Amino acid sequence: MLKSLRTLAIALLLAVGALVPRFSVAANVPDEGMWLPMFVERLNYVDMQKMGLKLTAQELYDVNHSSLKDAIVGLAAGSAPNGYFCTGEIVSDQGLVFTNHHCGFNNLQEHSSLEHDYLKDGFWAMSYEEELPNEGLTASFLVRMEDVTARVKATLTDDMTEEARAEAIEKISGEIQKEASDNGKYDPIVKSFFGGNEFYLFVYQTYRDVRLVGAPPSSVGKFGGDTDNWMWPRHTGDFCIFRVYTAPDGSPATYNKANVPMKPKHHLPVSIKGVQKDDYAMIWGYPGSTDRFLTSFGVQLAIDESNPTTVSIRDLKLRLMKEDMDADPRINIMYAAKYAGTANYWKYFIGQTRGLKRLKVVDEKKAIEASLMNWIDQTPERKAKYGDAMHMIKQGYEELKSTNLNSVYLSEAVLQGPEIILFSMRSSGLIDLMGMVDKAKGEDKIKAQEKLKGALARLQKRAGDFYKDFNVGTDKKLFAGLLAMYYKNIPQEQQPKAFVKMVDKYDGDFNKMAAELYDKTIFADPNRLNEFIADPKAKTLQKDPMIVLALAFREAYMSVAQEQAPIQTNIDKGNRLFIAALREMKPDQKFAPDANSTMRVTYGKVLDYYPADAVHYDFFTTLDGVMEKEDPKNEEFIVDPKLKELFNKKDYGRYGVKINGEDRLVTCFLTTNDITGGNSGSPVINANGELIGLAFDGNWEAMSGDIAFEPALQRTICADVRYVLFIIEKLGGCKRLIDEMTIAQ
Ligand code: ARG
Repeated sequence: MLKSLRTLAIALLLAVGALVPRFSVAANVPDEGMWLPMFVERLNYVDMQKMGLKLTAQELYDVNHSSLKDAIVGLAAGSAPNGYFCTGEIVSDQGLVFTNHHCGFNNLQEHSSLEHDYLKDGFWAMSYEEELPNEGLTASFLVRMEDVTARVKATLTDDMTEEARAEAIEKISGEIQKEASDNGKYDPIVKSFFGGNEFYLFVYQTYRDVRLVGAPPSSVGKFGGDTDNWMWPRHTGDFCIFRVYTAPDGSPATYNKANVPMKPKHHLPVSIKGVQKDDYAMIWGYPGSTDRFLTSFGVQLAIDESNPTTVSIRDLKLRLMKEDMDADPRINIMYAAKYAGTANYWKYFIGQTRGLKRLKVVDEKKAIEASLMNWIDQTPERKAKYGDAMHMIKQGYEELKSTNLNSVYLSEAVLQGPEIILFSMRSSGLIDLMGMVDKAKGEDKIKAQEKLKGALARLQKRAGDFYKDFNVGTDKKLFAGLLAMYYKNIPQEQQPKAFVKMVDKYDGDFNKMAAELYDKTIFADPNRLNEFIADPKAKTLQKDPMIVLALAFREAYMSVAQEQAPIQTNIDKGNRLFIAALREMKPDQKFAPDANSTMRVTYGKVLDYYPADAVHYDFFTTLDGVMEKEDPKNEEFIVDPKLKELFNKKDYGRYGVKINGEDRLVTCFLTTNDITGGNSGSPVINANGELIGLAFDGNWEAMSGDIAFEPALQRTICADVRYVLFIIEKLGGCKRLIDEMTIAQ
């Protein structure tokens, strides 16, 4: 599962205070839990062994010797060590990395054009020289982690305000990180766990030259498209291959032609022995966030408002993008990644709402809350310590209600709506810079000029990336459609005044408004922006109507954020107490912390399931199913002619199996592992520490899994590594990659 970057991107951009760490715990049910590698020996190892694991605890996680954890990488595009959008694993002693096709999708899209359409045709580098650099893409290795709870808590007191508490945590975390960085050699980060009850330091080494090596055509890597997304039975070869490069001395370096393939501490052997029902399976990776401690009030707000609103806004975005993508193959490439990302979490929220309702998660949460309240009420000490928790949370959600809709809209329909709004907003800082250049004298003037020059150069660079995948007609349609929706559905007194005035000026005709604004702004056209960069005038920006509008929306967003901040602080405090009380109430239960983009391991087994009354789903699919689903008229279900030929000849090589005397090729399989967004591309590993598959999705019947784990229904969908190798070798003709792997057969 790919981590959604929606809120993160905006929060970073607007810098509205620190991100609130999310947390919750897992109950003591088999398979539930994304465990911290550092504690596996103490908490999980005995269980793991009972379930079939053959490795020692030191072979899993060891900071002094190489261990399995050294083969796991967090993939980021500028957000390491804070967050990772996907996971990858090292599969050769030359730094070869496997991850998902949908994790490499952005990079494939960026390298694609009508002449070289790697999305449609796939990409295979036949030599090191043909491997393609990817600006900004990084791969991080975890060097070590450490419990720093005591050190952080020593700076906190029970009676300090939440603001003072946050400040103290930030300060001590900064000190700890500085010590651990070894003068910039490492990227350390302190993260909060269990709602701010525990703190851990993670020290990473980040590699910045990560090249694209191979990917199947979308007809394999994205087979089934949005129709099959988040669902089983699945037939997707969702994999993509990168390679980590280092400076000739082995140290991390940014892209340089002279860099060499990395020599990793550990790489995973690849098993082509196949998987059986009940086989031990574990997944290592970087799950982004879960909310297993979310209270009934939070769940209710998601069901009633946040989720359906997000879905309805995305319905429109998707429809408008699709119209243009279908009409023009060039736009189809430009918007492929934007469309896929929007569609992925559109369907996620539909499924999550459905799951929360069907599985009666609100009632489940209410029962937990009632029993906790009952426990708290039993002694005066507990009452003094935890008595307020539920009330604070309840009241907080009550208070959020008046601004929640506007906040969802501002983020989904405006800031992430038409792209021109954020793009022009990001240039507004130039106005102040130019003012400084005008006013300053002497040395200050020179300094200000230098600063301005730098900012303009960065704008130029940003513009290059932006316009490459920007179609003004499409964006204009998004602008008119989404802003009309905002205008109609948000109480007018909550809308920015400048916006309402503009709408009045155009008599509520959003098409007309869009036409004029895109005509007048310098941001809709690369030539006009370049003219501005060559001869920048503050006035040009000050009267640019798109900047005026963007700034009005930014102000609205900030003021909602400001209004929500103290409310959120109270909810967070309530949550922290709630979680602490829950753990105290069940002292014998092992709790796993919520996902927070740190390395985790989940262990379970290969298993089928019963999705509904009278329905059984087997634990694996085969290439036969690809042929059953084929539909040449539907782009989601096209089958590559060469793949069909291989199927017809049953040319599966050593990757095929006999099932009831027939030659078959397994495509995907299921495990009981507990994963979430960010785990995409994670290795599925057998009892011997060998790679058997790549985790890539969750299943429809358990889409509420990020909030409440459902052991009977929740499965991880994995691409079978034999299908991956088959595609590389037989469809891609890229045997050189197989030859550098360690194959266990
Ligand atoms: N649901 C998968 C995830 O979040 C993404 C699968 C990509 N496929 C697609 N049709 N968009 O990781």
